[in-house]
Amino acid sequence: MFVRPFGAGCEVQTPAKLNLFLEVLGRRPDGFHELETLMTTVSLCDSLVCQVEPDGPVRLDCAWAVGLQAASREASRADRACAWEALPPEHENLALRAVEALRRAAGEPRSARLRLIKRIPAAAGLGGASSDAAAALVAANEVWGLNWSRERLQAVAATLGSDIPFFLTAGGVWPGAAVCRGRGERIEPVPDWPTLAFVAVRPPVGLSTPAVFRECRPPAEPRSVEPLLEAARTGDLGRIGRLLHNGLQAAAGRLSPWIGRLEHEFNRLDLPGHAMSGSGSTYFGVCRHAGQARRAAGRLRNRVDGAVFWGTAGR
Ligand code: C5P
Repeated sequence: MFVRPFGAGCEVQTPAKLNLFLEVLGRRPDGFHELETLMTTVSLCDSLVCQVEPDGPVRLDCAWAVGLQAASREASRADRACAWEALPPEHENLALRAVEALRRAAGEPRSARLRLIKRIPAAAGLGGASSDAAAALVAANEVWGLNWSRERLQAVAATLGSDIPFFLTAGGVWPGAAVCRGRGERIEPVPDWPTLAFVAVRPPVGLSTPAVFRECRPPAEPRSVEPLLEAARTGDLGRIGRLLHNGLQAAAGRLSPWIGRLEHEFNRLDLPGHAMSGSGSTYFGVCRHAGQARRAAGRLRNRVDGAVFWGTAGR
């Protein structure tokens, strides 16, 4: 996350994430699932600007970045699925709800206006909405001069979504990787995580996180993230690739034919490894270097629909 305060405002570049490892350990009495996941921030970012308003409700304008707007409009006119779906109504936006929650918790009399430029596809397993909410908390904390610690912001964040605390900690220092446990809100940063090149596809149809979790069956013998952390410590890219794992992938594959199709396409690319991110529907591969990621992106653009992008993950 990159934070730039200016005058009465603050601009934040806030990243997407990839889950290089995700295991479902079991279903909890509160309906959530106990997880062990390794997440890294990636070089694909949304931009958020927050400015102080004297009073009134918190307001938000949200739009796809220039270039993506046209694709989104064209698809909705033709009633076609598109990686840049229609955006949710503004009052449902998690960034807006996060700032409202912080305002209430802090007893802040002033209001704020948010402008959000989106590049991270939604319903994608990339944490876009959570990242925007984390950015909005950091920005509002700055413009209202609250000086709340990241830990205090995390308490507000955890009530709104399981992934937001990750973006406030590992994502708070750009870039970052962390093992997240519990619902995803117990964060253990991995400071020596290597920078990896990746290529990813968000197919035209997204997946609903609650639907994928409902469909999943926790394994009798869950895998551990430890071997992947060990492979990262020795810098063995081949081993890192073989140890990528997503315990939600089978469930997502039962709900969307895109997951199996993308797995098949990535198998043809000779990458160190590939897997689905989060609850999908984005599928990604780890590459040997940026050149391989760029070439793989070119081949995927010729073969599948959706948003294809490449960049760097973690550090
Ligand atoms: O916390 P978040 O809003 O991202 O979760 C969305 C939904 O995903 C939850 O309502 C729950 O159904 C499911 N979920 C889960 N276990 C988790 C995280 C999310 O079952 N650890």
